[in-house]
Amino acid sequence: MINVKEQIAALLSEHIEGMEAEELEKLIEIPTDTSLGDYAFPCFKLAKLMRKAPNLIASDISGAIASDPMFEKVQPVNAYVNMFMKKGDMALSTLNAVIAKKEKYGSMDQGEGKKVIVEFSSPNIAKPFHIGHIRTTVIGNALANIYSFLGYDVVKINHLGDYGTQFGKMIVAYRHWGSKEEVEANPIKTLLAYYVKFHDEAETHPELEEEARIAFYNLEHGEKEELQLWQWIRDESLKEFSRVYDMLGITFDSYAGESFYSDKMPAVIDELKEKGLLVESRGAQIVDLEKYGMPPAIITKSDGTSIYLTRDLAAAFYRKKTYDFDKCIYVVASQQDLHFQQLFKVIELMGYEWAKDMIHVNFGMVSLADGTLSTRHGRVVFLEDVLNKAVEKTREIITEKGVNTDQLEETAKVVGIGAVVFRELSAGRIKDYVFDWDKVLNFDGETGPYVQYTHARAASVLRNGGFDISKIDMSKLDCSYLTGDAASTLIKGIYAFPEAVAKAADDNEPSTVTRCIIDIAQSFNKFYHDEHIIVDDENERNAKLVLTFVAKQVIANGLSLLGIKAPDRM
Ligand code: ARG
Repeated sequence: MINVKEQIAALLSEHIEGMEAEELEKLIEIPTDTSLGDYAFPCFKLAKLMRKAPNLIASDISGAIASDPMFEKVQPVNAYVNMFMKKGDMALSTLNAVIAKKEKYGSMDQGEGKKVIVEFSSPNIAKPFHIGHIRTTVIGNALANIYSFLGYDVVKINHLGDYGTQFGKMIVAYRHWGSKEEVEANPIKTLLAYYVKFHDEAETHPELEEEARIAFYNLEHGEKEELQLWQWIRDESLKEFSRVYDMLGITFDSYAGESFYSDKMPAVIDELKEKGLLVESRGAQIVDLEKYGMPPAIITKSDGTSIYLTRDLAAAFYRKKTYDFDKCIYVVASQQDLHFQQLFKVIELMGYEWAKDMIHVNFGMVSLADGTLSTRHGRVVFLEDVLNKAVEKTREIITEKGVNTDQLEETAKVVGIGAVVFRELSAGRIKDYVFDWDKVLNFDGETGPYVQYTHARAASVLRNGGFDISKIDMSKLDCSYLTGDAASTLIKGIYAFPEAVAKAADDNEPSTVTRCIIDIAQSFNKFYHDEHIIVDDENERNAKLVLTFVAKQVIANGLSLLGIKAPDRM
């Protein structure tokens, strides 16, 4: 597509000495106040270079470029050159760009030949897959979609928490108080109850902790009984997780979790020793990170059992060897910031320059309105329950409205689950937030249902207009009908979409895409309300229907990147 900023920069570079077009392009801004133009160029930087007051430079540049045919008008305002584009031209090139690429509009090939690992979701087996996990799950999935869209070869890994001392506790709890039938009937809720009981009992019977430690030691050393119990717990848990992934339409390329790396740790520990990085501290083996302002990285505990960090080290080396990644992204809560800083530092100290390609994509905490979540105390909101409840509520709302009952179930699912996912991807990921049913299921405002509804509305306009894109001759399209305020704002939003996708990947921040499609949906609705789309005049009707078609396409592309379906009827 025609890149307007690039075009403007090329023109500017003809009149500015000492700065390349590429540099100039980066300076071009899109003013939020549209009365200041479609694009603005600030002259502060040039003032130093040219030894001239910025407002004088702005008026010189304005004079020099104003006659270019791409502009409607160019105006110097203080230190800025404000540029107003010819709206019809801008509309036509944007519409053409979307029609040429359709569901690929916004995609790029910047990632061609590059591999990105996106590790996300990674719940702990035998523990609830709860509302706290939704963020890593949907942020990770959206990032994986976005990177693929940009041409990267993406590997999606679920680093299951299927190992560690907690399985010692689980095994001990099961032995003392468990029943097979009970677990199989309702695996995670039952195992959770055992786990909660373990912690309650351990307060008065501290010897349980020691028993759990031994059970985990046995598991790690391949004792048959512990191993079998563990395998069974893992299988039962995965069955439950898979139900949620199916509802969300999420798949993984690998479920290699922590246990997968247990036999790959000794090699890492040996290498750390060889490189002189391992020191003993109170019986444990550690890497001293004091110089870097971090607590020591514990590699093995005093009883020789390994820990979380060691498994992550083994996983990093395995991934580098197996996938030779260009980037390895960990979508994990910010509570684990220190863990990842230590992990990356240790790899760097081992002399691997690719430590710089490991990225911790962190996010804020989810809490309940009445306090924090705590697995230990059983204060849990199950993700599956949230999704089911969202579907149920949506069904009620649709039934109340009395629309298209034949597709009620499907629509309730698509909209209910979409609502939850969209909400997670609406705010910047780093923000903490309070889980609140009313907000998740609010069907007005900047929500998933609103955007989906806008998509369905556009689809219905196209149906009513008998629109068929293959019958449109774009070379004859009269874009002068698309120069009103509402249409212009909508076109700008559509034009901004590819940039939003690229920025979402740069910042590992899917909410950039969410924001962009909310803007497009709002602009489309304004266009729909302000203008008659299906008018008698064929030229006008065609131009407006093409814009409707294009807006619908871009909303669908955005939703699909977020992992949300775009219904044609609602
Ligand atoms: N299972 C961990 C948890 O639920 C998250 C795993 C994150 N990934 C990693 N490579 N450490 O907290």
